[in-house]
Amino acid sequence: MTMLGWSEPNLTPTRKPQDEQAHDTPLGDATGLGDIERGAARVSVDDKRMINARADVNQLLPLKYRWAWEKYLAGCNNHWMPTEVSMQADIALWKSRDGLTDDERLMIKRNLGFFAASESLVANNIVLAIYRHLTNPECRQYLLRQAFEEAVHTHTFQYIVDSLGLNEGELFNMYREVPSITDKAAWALDYTKHLDDPDFQTGTPDRDRAFLRDLVAFYVIFEGMWFYTGFAQILSLGRRNKMVGIAEQYQYILRDESIHLNFGIDVINQIKIENPDLWTNAFQEEIRGMLKNAAELEAAYGRDTMPRGFLGLNAGLCEQYMHFIANRRCAQLGLAPVFPAAGNPFPWMSEAMDLKKEKNFFETRVIEYQNGGTLSWE
Ligand SMILES: [Fe+2]
Ligand SMILES: [Fe+2]
Repeated sequence: MTMLGWSEPNLTPTRKPQDEQAHDTPLGDATGLGDIERGAARVSVDDKRMINARADVNQLLPLKYRWAWEKYLAGCNNHWMPTEVSMQADIALWKSRDGLTDDERLMIKRNLGFFAASESLVANNIVLAIYRHLTNPECRQYLLRQAFEEAVHTHTFQYIVDSLGLNEGELFNMYREVPSITDKAAWALDYTKHLDDPDFQTGTPDRDRAFLRDLVAFYVIFEGMWFYTGFAQILSLGRRNKMVGIAEQYQYILRDESIHLNFGIDVINQIKIENPDLWTNAFQEEIRGMLKNAAELEAAYGRDTMPRGFLGLNAGLCEQYMHFIANRRCAQLGLAPVFPAAGNPFPWMSEAMDLKKEKNFFETRVIEYQNGGTLSWE
């Protein structure tokens, strides 16, 4: 890897506070779709920036952010397709009269309904909001890979609906019918809506912060918090040998999502490094408030999906798990925890995430893919 001669990320802030209101030199073309500057100088690594870059966004090399390129490679190494997972055992169990309790069926359906639409919301946010404003080609390379992975995840829910013979309208429309699911989607959409105006451009502190809020809402909260309760619900069933096909698919989704999350954390932290003036105490408090608020929305979803709870899983434990995860996300962003010290009620989740160690955990695997190997799981 080192033979490519990557330069290390530049850790010194490149924008001074006095640049804040007006840029003394013109910004580059953020989209990469503007007129070509004939004969313009070659790209210098020092000109590359996460947002508001002056460097041409159409030139991947020379690389500046090695972590973004490594996540792109890790994503490619983790390639999988839902149709390669056998659904035979799940179909038999779903169709059996007493293999699953009513509570388990309710949780499974609401869980699938939440994910089915959420994968699209996340994909739309990447393609329609984030991509345009992240002015770095190696990050965009990762976004293109991530966008495809979100399509694979949406495909997974199509495949599950098809295999089990579920009501497709009920599943895919659930985010507009079950209030606790609607509340989460509406909360996140508010942040992406801010960037929806075609005239929106980063480049002022207010707008740069709006972009950061969207990154937090989708990468840290949607993918990094809410998805994790959803994974815990299904993997908990898988541990009891129920719905093992879906559980295996969720393991692959979880592996992908953990890279999405870590990419988002790295993007946010790099933007902080390059624009330290954005990360004021007031803004940090605001972000902490977002995480706390998101954990409360998740607690309501936990009660809706598990009104009574079942073996090893209930709304109370999921709420505790969300507090644990929220504190962990705060630490990754360099923020103080939002909840009093919360223990992890699902220590088995870290094992479920490590596919290398538990390669044939569900023993339904058809094709073995190369494992990313160097990833650190959250
Ligand atoms: Fe996804
Ligand atoms: Fe994702």
